[in-house]
Amino acid sequence: MSVFKIHTFTIMDYEQHISTSKLPDVKTTIFTTVGNLARKHHAIDLSQGFPNFKADEKLKSMVNDALLAGHNQYAPMQGYYGLREGISEKIASLHQYTYSPEDEITITVGATQAIFTAITAFITKGDEVIVIKPAYDCYEPAITLNGGIPVYVQLEAPDYKIDWSAFENKITDKTKMVIINTPHNPSGTILTKSDMEQLEKILKPTNIILLSDEVYEHIIFDGQVHESVSRFPDLANRSFVCASFGKTFHVTGWKMGYCVAPTELMAEFRKVHQFAVFCVDHPVQRALANYLKNPSHYLDLNNFYQEKRDFFLDGIKSSKFKYKPSQGTYFQLLNYTQISMDKDEVIGKRLITEKGIASIPISSFNVENRNDHMLRFCFAKKKETLEQAVEILCKL
Ligand SMILES: Cc1ncc(COP(=O)(O)O)c(C=O)c1O
Repeated sequence: MSVFKIHTFTIMDYEQHISTSKLPDVKTTIFTTVGNLARKHHAIDLSQGFPNFKADEKLKSMVNDALLAGHNQYAPMQGYYGLREGISEKIASLHQYTYSPEDEITITVGATQAIFTAITAFITKGDEVIVIKPAYDCYEPAITLNGGIPVYVQLEAPDYKIDWSAFENKITDKTKMVIINTPHNPSGTILTKSDMEQLEKILKPTNIILLSDEVYEHIIFDGQVHESVSRFPDLANRSFVCASFGKTFHVTGWKMGYCVAPTELMAEFRKVHQFAVFCVDHPVQRALANYLKNPSHYLDLNNFYQEKRDFFLDGIKSSKFKYKPSQGTYFQLLNYTQISMDKDEVIGKRLITEKGIASIPISSFNVENRNDHMLRFCFAKKKETLEQAVEILCKL
């Protein structure tokens, strides 16, 4: 006769931990919610920011080669040296500023990890961090988790230009960091040389760290120049610049990015990085180092995406939407007030469930979910997808 042993379990008091959540206000992101709804209704999905076309076969075969060559063990903690060298050369040739591959460049799990790590390395309880809204959604949870306080500068539709005196007024003796993003998601605006000079002037007498999210650095239109922080030595010497191979090489799923900063700041960054991830996918780093050797792989991106933007805008020019052409990123904001005065979340949902097209409501990026009557459409899509989208949008 077999004997069954009966275990007694203590009941875990989850509630106690949930009620002291470190991120009580964080819900499932708008991207997941909209994406799920779009799939359920088989909608054309221009919501989330990723391409639906293939990455370059050359890049894929370089990853394959690196795998077969046996680069299967840990990469150096800071990243594969050849890739750091390639990044240093790229920045020097584009922005005439040289970062040491040894001490000032680290390869990360996408820009998201670079941003999280830079914030974690410096922000402690009570530190204020200026966040310009509308803002990409990964900044604030990282600040809050580290005990910091996000301080907002809300930009106004439809231009979403920074009022630098309003910005300056937000600086206090508790301000430890400022976060900027150019080209800007979701508005598609860019910071100009004059913007950067004003920022430089404001920060000069302070000890504030600048975190510059430049993941769309190679997607900028109409002959304009990406005014990277790296072009402004007085900014660069206080800054982390975060970038994403995922955005640049159509491989967002690879989650590969990097971060550059002066030696002293980078040393602190690496203290966190080495215990959060230690190092990043080795064969992919080898492949990226190889792929980066040909500058046309990133320099041609402006024209590639400008064609897509123009195709999309040309297609909807007879629609009821109002817009200012995106200056950078692969996002286009559309104002829908000639169609409805409803809240953007309501119209966004209706477009998915009734018309079969998905976009992102901008309120989710604004302070207190302010409604700008704008929806964000991602045009990093195949021509057929854009054609289908245009057809629907013109019928509204
Ligand atoms: C402004 C901005 N920053 C950072 C990221 C994250 O980049 P990655 O996928 O390399 O982590 C995104 C992705 O959408 C973004 O739009």
